[in-house]
Amino acid sequence: MKFSIKLGLWFFICILVIESVSMLFLHKNVVHSLVNEELHSLQARGNSHRDVLEMSYTSETLHHIAMMETQTDTEVVITNLKGSVVEASRKIDPGIQYILEIEVDAPPRNGYIIQADWKDQQYISTVSPFDDGAGNQGYVYMLKSNDHIQAFIAKLNHHFLIAIVLILVFLLVTIIFLLKVLTSPLVSMKEATKKLSNGDFSVTVPVMSNDEIGELSKSIQLLANDLSYLKKERNEFLASISHELRTPLTYIKGYADIGKRKTITEEERINYMNIIHEESENVHQLLHELFELAKIDENMFTIQKMPINIKDFLFPIYEKARHVFLAQGHQLELVCRGEWRVEIDPRRFEQIILNLLDNALKYSSEKSLTKIDVYKENQEILIAISDQGQGIPSEDLPYVFNRLFRVDKSRSRLTGGFGLGLAIVKEIVEAHSARISVDSEFGEGTCFTIRLKESFHEDSFTH
Ligand SMILES: Nc1ncnc2c1ncn2[C@@H]1O[C@H](COP(=O)(O)OP(=O)(O)O)[C@@H](O)[C@H]1O
Ligand SMILES: [Mg+2]
Repeated sequence: MKFSIKLGLWFFICILVIESVSMLFLHKNVVHSLVNEELHSLQARGNSHRDVLEMSYTSETLHHIAMMETQTDTEVVITNLKGSVVEASRKIDPGIQYILEIEVDAPPRNGYIIQADWKDQQYISTVSPFDDGAGNQGYVYMLKSNDHIQAFIAKLNHHFLIAIVLILVFLLVTIIFLLKVLTSPLVSMKEATKKLSNGDFSVTVPVMSNDEIGELSKSIQLLANDLSYLKKERNEFLASISHELRTPLTYIKGYADIGKRKTITEEERINYMNIIHEESENVHQLLHELFELAKIDENMFTIQKMPINIKDFLFPIYEKARHVFLAQGHQLELVCRGEWRVEIDPRRFEQIILNLLDNALKYSSEKSLTKIDVYKENQEILIAISDQGQGIPSEDLPYVFNRLFRVDKSRSRLTGGFGLGLAIVKEIVEAHSARISVDSEFGEGTCFTIRLKESFHEDSFTH
């Protein structure tokens, strides 16, 4: 069942129940007060006849009273104490007889209601006693035919019915209108999400209001935009990856073809084999880095942080890297200006530092100096790795952490990287809740800075 129909039905049933109960209550009250009104006026009339009788109890008066009542829609019956009829405004029919037979028991002077049942009896009735002080005693019965009351109530019912029908029609129209207003944005959202799940991200969800439904529309639109951006990014990434793979594979295939020839010397063959080996290493490296990124994206990548003295952590890495730097005619320096502890995953963090040092080495010309500088600033521990290399043009600076981004698009065979290193570095740094930033002066050098929170836990890493 549709949501709008369900909601509408609930609304309708609730209002219907409320309306029925209040109408029933109102109807009962109206009828009750009408009958009461009638009874009280009967009693008042009976009392006034009583007063006349007590003033002059003559056959003329009796006759006069009966005469008066024949002109109205009420009836009068005057009896003596024993209940024999003395005078009546109309013939005694079974309905009147029924009332006269009800025993009158010590009535108060102002009389009382003897018959109030307007549904099943022919008359409603009151009785007032009279006593003129000269031995004339008896009762004045006032009666009114229930036909009048029933006719009035039938008319009342008719009015009520019209009112109920009108209210229901109005209610139905209002509910339909409200549901249209309420559900039309929901319907368009439903269509949008259906399109999204079918892979069509080019949806536009109109935002028609500023309430929760409007917020939901905005969220769906945002989701659609994000999905479409992700799809575009993924396609671009895949295209770049296949391009990256094609280059080394072309080399491998080409040199393998030449290597197969019988006309080449053994020396040449070994040379070609070396190139093939180097290019396979490249492919291997690319696949390794891609796998690393995929693990990070899949959240399969775990960080096991532990409190570590930063100096003790960096020193062995520096020692290891220094030899590589020296072998290539470069210099590496480590300056640690204090004893601080940080919470890091040492294996992962070593990967970060080696990656940054590798870049510093790769993108510097000979005999330049690379520095690892550790210091404290604004409650944070900073690790700055600065080189005197070729630097990064300022227009490229915002993109260096993007996947597959390289300043030099035509990758030189010497400094062959895939542009994934810094992307991995950034992911690992952020997994540590730390930050990394880059400053660079083109032609002067580059500085990568990692900011970490200081840890006040006990040291668990000893050098
Ligand atoms: N220290 C640096 N000096 C100059 N350029 C750098 C430095 N580090 C990174 N870059 C630039 O940023 C790009 C991306 O670096 P990275 O992600 O490590 O990829 P890769 O080293 O595989 O090329 C590099 O191709 C290079 O152009
Ligand atoms: Mg690199």
